Amino acid sequence: EQHDVALIVGSNRRESINAQLARALVALAPAHLRFVPVQIDDLPMYNPDRDPEGEAAVRRLKTDVGRCSGLLVVTPEHNRSIPAVLKNAIDWGSKPMPASVWRDKAVAIAGTSPGAIGTAVGQQHLRQILGVLGGLVLGGEAYVQCKPGFFDASGGITDESTEAFLQAYMERFGDLVRKMARN
Ligand code: FNR
Repeated sequence: EQHDVALIVGSNRRESINAQLARALVALAPAHLRFVPVQIDDLPMYNPDRDPEGEAAVRRLKTDVGRCSGLLVVTPEHNRSIPAVLKNAIDWGSKPMPASVWRDKAVAIAGTSPGAIGTAVGQQHLRQILGVLGGLVLGGEAYVQCKPGFFDASGGITDESTEAFLQAYMERFGDLVRKMARN
């Protein structure tokens, strides 16, 4: 049985190291997870005066996330919180409240930065936000320091123990998605 997982990268940077980490995590994930990349960098700035139904990019976000039972967010940390582009997507997806797409999702959070505790603080904010919105966020933490040479030429993770750690994290996420999908 396959389970669809919405994949959101919290960076709109072309050479994003978090987009690279996301690709590596997808490669390490168990085979029953099928990832659906969700674009967020073309969403308008959230404005309650705008009709979400009138915005094609918002409709696409809601459809893509809404049909998935899981959500993987791989995000940088901006000023010890989450990037504005990611918060903007979360806000769009949360309204109107009864139709929020974040509710009852199995969620995993990961991220990387050049800094030693890179993304740990931002991830705490994200965990809180998605928890408030009714998601079930996987326990544990997956933040990694991206030093030069962290990724090999084919996009894999050079350090074996880091790779094993992230693989175990994705396996636990796969178990959570399965439980939340009730099959
Ligand atoms: C950063 N960066 C950063 N890094 C970090 O570890 N903690 C932080 O709080 C911040 N704050 C921050 C704010 C802003 C506005 C920018 C642009 C950057 C550095 C950040 O980790 C680095 O730019 C990464 O390359 C971002 O990830 P992506 O975009 O490459 O995936």
